[in-house]
Amino acid sequence: MTTIETHTDTALPSPTAAGSGSAATDKFKNERATADTSPERLAAIAKDALSALHNVILEHGVTYPEYRVFKQWLIDVGEGGEWPLFLDVFIEHAVEEVLARSRKGTKGSIEGPYYVANAPILPSVSTLPMRAEDREITPLVFAGQVTDLDGNGLAGASLELWHADNDGYYSHFAPHLPDWNLRGTIITDEDGRYEITTIQPAPYQIPTDGPTGQFIEAQNGHPWRPAHLHLIVSAPGKESVTTQLYFAGGEWLDSDVASATKPELILDPTTGDDGKNHVTYNFVLDPA
Ligand code: BEZ
Ligand code: FE
Repeated sequence: MTTIETHTDTALPSPTAAGSGSAATDKFKNERATADTSPERLAAIAKDALSALHNVILEHGVTYPEYRVFKQWLIDVGEGGEWPLFLDVFIEHAVEEVLARSRKGTKGSIEGPYYVANAPILPSVSTLPMRAEDREITPLVFAGQVTDLDGNGLAGASLELWHADNDGYYSHFAPHLPDWNLRGTIITDEDGRYEITTIQPAPYQIPTDGPTGQFIEAQNGHPWRPAHLHLIVSAPGKESVTTQLYFAGGEWLDSDVASATKPELILDPTTGDDGKNHVTYNFVLDPA
């Protein structure tokens, strides 16, 4: 194991605001997570987690200096406010895989750290809030229908949609952006249909200037996620799906740092005579 040193890479662009990690930590802390896990189940999970870590230490013959570097790194992740970032990049996809075992409808994907509840409610045909500079980017018109497993349209379903701007910044986590930029809650019409205009997202680089970046570098990895839209689709009496949509032929699709792509979640828009990218995607919700 090499010594992990503090590293600031000025050569790589770092599109996420320096404070995004701590903003994500503050948001998470305010929500105060709970789970109805029994004490017995919790004890079994904790025991196995420790045992897995012990096995890694024994297998690799981890030394005391390496152990102390590990301790320092864990402290740095916490002090840098990077636990939501680190966990959602490297761990969340496995939890999502467990959830996916029990579902038949649209495939899910990770939520990531940048969801904010209560985005402005928008009608079934609408444009996401965006700044004048965002309007320079290729528009994306994303239409479809929300249905149940039998194909019945779900009126009044909601699509919470959020994504990064062309520079990789998420509103609420980058102080220069207006709140709710590129975020909205779209309500489907009487047939469950919607048509949302936004902009074509760009690939997104997770912050590289802290301990998560050091971890990626230590693995000889890269910090990129393919361009994506985030969605939570919900309807009364149905199980909500948290997912992401990606773009055919997009960079990093086969090596997403967050391991969160699925073939069923790839859009293939076509450019219309109006110069906008157009695509249809339908969502299917499981019963609650
Ligand atoms: C995301 O925005 O998709 C994301 C960011 C950091 C960690 C995981 C996902
Ligand atoms: Fe994202």
